[in-house]
Amino acid sequence: MLDRAFMFGDGIYEVIPVYSRRAFRLAEHLARLEASLRAIRIDNPHDPSQWSSLIGKVIEHNPWQDQSVYLQVTRGVAPREHQFPQGLTPTVFLMANALVTPSKDQIERGGSAIVLADFRWLHCEVKSVSLLGNCWLRTLAADCGCTEAILVRDGFLTEASSSNVFIVRDGVVITPPKSNLILPGVTYDVVLEILRANAMAHQVRQVSETELRAADEIWVTSSSKEIFPITTLDSKPVGQGENLGKPGPVFARAYAHYQVFKATVMRSAAHV
Ligand code: PDD
Repeated sequence: MLDRAFMFGDGIYEVIPVYSRRAFRLAEHLARLEASLRAIRIDNPHDPSQWSSLIGKVIEHNPWQDQSVYLQVTRGVAPREHQFPQGLTPTVFLMANALVTPSKDQIERGGSAIVLADFRWLHCEVKSVSLLGNCWLRTLAADCGCTEAILVRDGFLTEASSSNVFIVRDGVVITPPKSNLILPGVTYDVVLEILRANAMAHQVRQVSETELRAADEIWVTSSSKEIFPITTLDSKPVGQGENLGKPGPVFARAYAHYQVFKATVMRSAAHV
């Protein structure tokens, strides 16, 4: 009970997608884990090869081909005292669930989101297990029958409660830059790589709430949702013309490229 994560939310986590029993973008997830641990002064208890072998064991002992591996490192157990104690043994926890990415039907319909004020703290770049703000925001979205909460701070888009956000305006894909206000998503990086590799027009810059609300397309990205279209925002259909309230053509291109990219990477690279 005195684990610092239980008492204070004092820990870091990762969610790593596994396709055909191979971890996708493992090195990037482990690098982000290291950065988050360092930010809050927890010594990483394992090096990348040790993590890789632990994750490999979890994958091996679970029945699914596609899995979502969750790992958590907490500061450890200590008497309740706010200041970070030194010299604790971090608690390490891993588990896997079946990875269920959005179905074809869900993608064709798209998701619904509401816009909410981002009332989280100013270190959203740290993948902390202190997710109370995110959980609260997601619940407010669910209260309105929505699947996601898209967040704005001081008039600008940050991210969503458990995903990053991209918009499309006049054929250009736009996403906010990495900062302390968003989690640096591994999927976000993959999507930007895909846009670059396929010469799809894109910009990494601030997105105003006005632009968000006027977007032709809105996508959310995460390790479990991959790229997923938001087709209703604040009860209004997203987009215009024949694409009104439907996933748009730029989404269709990016999604197709994502699937090809994933298959190619999984065939070629050395993974767990
Ligand atoms: N969430 N932003 C937030 C606040 C997130 O919680 C997540 C991921 C992302 C996307 O990051 P990535 O592409 O690396 O999955 C962005 C995970 C999946 C979760 O908490 O379950």
